[in-house]
Amino acid sequence: MNFKEIIEEIYQKIKSIENKGELASYISELASVDVENFGIHISTIDQNNFGIGNWNDKFSIQSIAKVLSLVLAYRMVGEKIWERLGVEPSGTPFNSLVQLEVDNGIPRNPFINSGAIVISDILLSNLENPKEEFLTFVRSLSNNSELNYSNKVAASEKAIGFRNIALCNFIKSFGNIKNEPADVLDFYFDLCSLEMNCKELSDSFLFLANNGCRIVDNITILTKSQTKRINALMQTCGFYDESGEFAFKVGLPGKSGVGGGIIALHPNQYTIAVWSPKLNKKGNSYKGMRFLEEFTTKSELSIF
Ligand code: DON
Repeated sequence: MNFKEIIEEIYQKIKSIENKGELASYISELASVDVENFGIHISTIDQNNFGIGNWNDKFSIQSIAKVLSLVLAYRMVGEKIWERLGVEPSGTPFNSLVQLEVDNGIPRNPFINSGAIVISDILLSNLENPKEEFLTFVRSLSNNSELNYSNKVAASEKAIGFRNIALCNFIKSFGNIKNEPADVLDFYFDLCSLEMNCKELSDSFLFLANNGCRIVDNITILTKSQTKRINALMQTCGFYDESGEFAFKVGLPGKSGVGGGIIALHPNQYTIAVWSPKLNKKGNSYKGMRFLEEFTTKSELSIF
């Protein structure tokens, strides 16, 4: 399959369409990002990598980090993790509170904000230096020691994090947060502020397309069965209340973030990262979704 040719063609097409949507301006640092940024990078199992556009520029990966924090927590805690979280799509916006009361403080899945806050709490309980150790883990996945959090993005989110503060305290009232809410949130905001470029992103996720093994040294990050489960969660919950639409139009497991990034993967083939900052009404990158829809249509490769 000549991915390069397909990507070049679709890139030109999607670059020229009207750039619809809005920036995630509720996080002030993200309100000033250049909306014309558009980058793509594919990393393949057979090391046939290719990037185009702004693939080399860093952006705020936001909720995409929720997959990596789940992976680290899952590695440490194993199946017991599902006692504190569900695995069902929520069908609600990413920052919704409504289901938590009915579900006794058990978030529907790890990719909505409430779920990622519980994962942050689990990591806080299991790591001695959570911020440093999570960063080390992500750096090892991407084979890049330059990766970092953005203090500015984390601070600007902290300043307006009323919803997340409410979520964390509400979950705590049901006993499903064990640490101090302020500490859990501090860690959660840092996770969301991670910055990567498209190449770093597609490289970091490649183990999930490779049955849980890192390509560079064949080290097992997750078992085959755990990898299947993470991919299944990305398929069913990776795009909040647009997860069905993404499965319908693109047909790959994936995860979005309000920084305008999307990671998607085809098991045993590739990972692909797309970045375009303007978001549709559900909080997913408008051009990113459009690009990936064309990509699986043209390549005739999806998991279905
Ligand atoms: O907590 C928040 O609102 C952001 N740090 C993350 C939200 C996000 O990326 C949802 N993505 N689509």
